[in-house]
Amino acid sequence: MALSSAPGKVYLFGEHAVVYGEPAVPCAIEQRARVGVERRDDEKIRVEAEDLSLDGFTVEYGGRTEDEPDIDVSESLLAAATGYVDEAISQVRSVTGEEDVGFDVTIESDIPLGAGLGSSAAVAVAAIDAGTRELGTTLEAEEIADRAFRTEYEVQDGQASRADTFCSATGGAVRVEGDDCRTIDAPDLPIVIGFDGGAGDTGKLVSAVRDLRAEYEFASNTVDSIGNIVRNGEQALENGDVEELGRLMNFNHGLLSALGVSSRSLDAMVWAARDADAYGAKLTGSGGGGCIVALDPTEATETALKFTPGCEDAFRAELADEGVCRLE
Ligand code: PMV
Repeated sequence: MALSSAPGKVYLFGEHAVVYGEPAVPCAIEQRARVGVERRDDEKIRVEAEDLSLDGFTVEYGGRTEDEPDIDVSESLLAAATGYVDEAISQVRSVTGEEDVGFDVTIESDIPLGAGLGSSAAVAVAAIDAGTRELGTTLEAEEIADRAFRTEYEVQDGQASRADTFCSATGGAVRVEGDDCRTIDAPDLPIVIGFDGGAGDTGKLVSAVRDLRAEYEFASNTVDSIGNIVRNGEQALENGDVEELGRLMNFNHGLLSALGVSSRSLDAMVWAARDADAYGAKLTGSGGGGCIVALDPTEATETALKFTPGCEDAFRAELADEGVCRLE
């Protein structure tokens, strides 16, 4: 068996605007998905998932996506577990040329699903790395990132940027602009995360912003303004100016709210962080529900979030310097 892990991420700046060619800066965090892959002697794929912020379950299905798994769980749960794994396995088959190989796949993750922390990218990256290594091929991080991007692109009907998958594969802070992805220097950031227990629908939220942008000039200007904030943010990162980073994150959150992708619970958590004197706070990822990211070196934000109605969990996250990690 080969076992790999890959980190989740927060967006310091630039989600949604990145879809229209503006730069974005995600940053990998030490919340990881671990994927074990073992070759089978038939074509089937068996997925066992635990700790996906959902009840653990097991599903076994044929070697081809068109074979419907026979299992009594909700469709979205099933899609979450099998969609990304299926496509990641297709990438493994295509890169190794072993088109008929089957696998037992075990997933264990600290990253809540669909909450803006890049759970699907982390699962795809770790699955591709473990799957290829199980067949004797070791890929470079950039190749894994590219294959994981294709995985998300297929599963999300073309609504995916390279940000999550590149960040998860390489670790650290990353700058993404179109197809250009690179790692950038970042100071040690005092990251605090608040989670409302929910999830946003990335596809729907991306489409809603697309429609708004087509209808209103303000929305297209707002996307441009987010791009400006990202550029200011890059400068602040370079200078190690955490206070300025926080201020810019506050601006970025306001603009995301203007685009309609925040929610009552996300706003409540952002304001709790601000009232606790965090340097700044914003939603992370597609929004609608899920997580906020705040910068605060003290305990105040974490404590305030724990007492905020609508906040289900609050925790500190370390920046993950290492991306995909080979454990076995
Ligand atoms: O919610 P997440 O972590 O999948 O992030 C989505 C970020 C978007 O910019 C809204 C879409 C994308 O693929 O970049």
